[in-house]
Amino acid sequence: MADPIRAQYESYPYPARDPGDERRRLVSGSPSHLDEIRHYLHGGRLDLNQPFRALIAGGGTGDAAIMLAQHLTDAGAAQAEVSYLDLSTASRAIAEARAEARGLTNIRFVTGAIEDIADRAPGPYDYIDCCGVLHHLESPEAGLAALTRQLATGGGMGLMVYATLGRAGVYPVQEALAQLAGDKPDRERLAVARRLVADLPASHWLKRNPFVGDHLTGGEAGLYDLLLHRRDRSYRVDELLTLVRGAGLAPRGWIEPARYEPETYLTDPVLRTAAAALDPDARVALAERLSSVIAKHIVYVAPADRTPPSPPDPGADDTVLVLRDLDPIAVAKGLRGGGMLQAEIDGTPYRAPLPDLAPGILASIDGRRTVADIRAAVCEQAHSIADPAAFADQARALFRAFHGINRMLVRHAGGVKNG
Ligand SMILES: C[S@@+](CC[C@H](N)C(=O)[O-])C[C@H]1O[C@@H](n2cnc3c(N)ncnc32)[C@H](O)[C@@H]1O
Repeated sequence: MADPIRAQYESYPYPARDPGDERRRLVSGSPSHLDEIRHYLHGGRLDLNQPFRALIAGGGTGDAAIMLAQHLTDAGAAQAEVSYLDLSTASRAIAEARAEARGLTNIRFVTGAIEDIADRAPGPYDYIDCCGVLHHLESPEAGLAALTRQLATGGGMGLMVYATLGRAGVYPVQEALAQLAGDKPDRERLAVARRLVADLPASHWLKRNPFVGDHLTGGEAGLYDLLLHRRDRSYRVDELLTLVRGAGLAPRGWIEPARYEPETYLTDPVLRTAAAALDPDARVALAERLSSVIAKHIVYVAPADRTPPSPPDPGADDTVLVLRDLDPIAVAKGLRGGGMLQAEIDGTPYRAPLPDLAPGILASIDGRRTVADIRAAVCEQAHSIADPAAFADQARALFRAFHGINRMLVRHAGGVKNG
């Protein structure tokens, strides 16, 4: 097989997945969570009674295709279709088995290259996922351009590429393995990689880097993908922005949002004020420098010449608050109104003030209720009447806190069934 990238993924489909696991859990992640697509690319309004076409470009063993297809099925989106495209037939077989295990019938599987998308699986697509793939292409620019040409009017993409700073130690080990294992057969290369991982000095950045772990926990596929890949580059934020803008696209949302906000890393008021004065691209680049450990960049993008509608105001009466993959009751129980939401972003503490009514609002969120519905429920519970403007501020504050860690999104009630 001439193409070493294709050969790798035929031998070591990535990430390693067992279709039998579909019975007990849905792998959820970013990009391509339906709540995120709606929030970041469609201004909170997606009419799923209309046809919706998504492409998962370089779909691997199926994580994004399965998640999105399941979300669309759960939302009753009868006319939605997810197209899966990948070079690797072995990866596709795993993804197909996972779809079968879940009884999903809304995925179309295609074997082929992103570069041949116009022939193999032409659009237009309302949404395109390209996660962990562009950085393996001979020309990421040509690949992204080919995908962009298949976007429908009003469509957007979710991208993930490796991030340079958080992959400290990875590239020196890749280079060392090229020297030590050269063009040996794969099994021998893996054996040499295992030896080297075990033999690295404690001072090596790879040993000291807790933000990459595929070589330790990802099985053979993970070890190969991280340390033996034959084409693998990484991006600083400004390089990624150049790639994205070169394709005529613009960022619409970084995941998690607080990871890309300088204020997450700064406490000094003078520095915070200086950071706040920067333009959006510069702020994101600064956040990466201040973090210094971001290992993957996840960003939603849309054509630069079309500004998608903004998501609705999280305090507006007809806005629906959506908790992303959290149990509202359990979260409400663990929080104190007027306290702090505490989390971690790559080891940096994340603290966000919570409004007094945080537990009550959270407990009423079900992904369908509007802010007005939630206000009525909270008032009924407390036997009181809330001032709508003050309640709106509480909803906004709660949204700000959870949105920073990508756990709360919004959508319009807007009368659109399933929307
Ligand atoms: C690192 S895996 C990522 C898989 C999946 N997107 C995920 O995030 O779990 C990269 C995938 O891209 C596929 N791939 C690499 N180059 C490709 C190309 N030019 N066209 C289509 N697929 C490609 C590989 O076969 C592999 O399955």
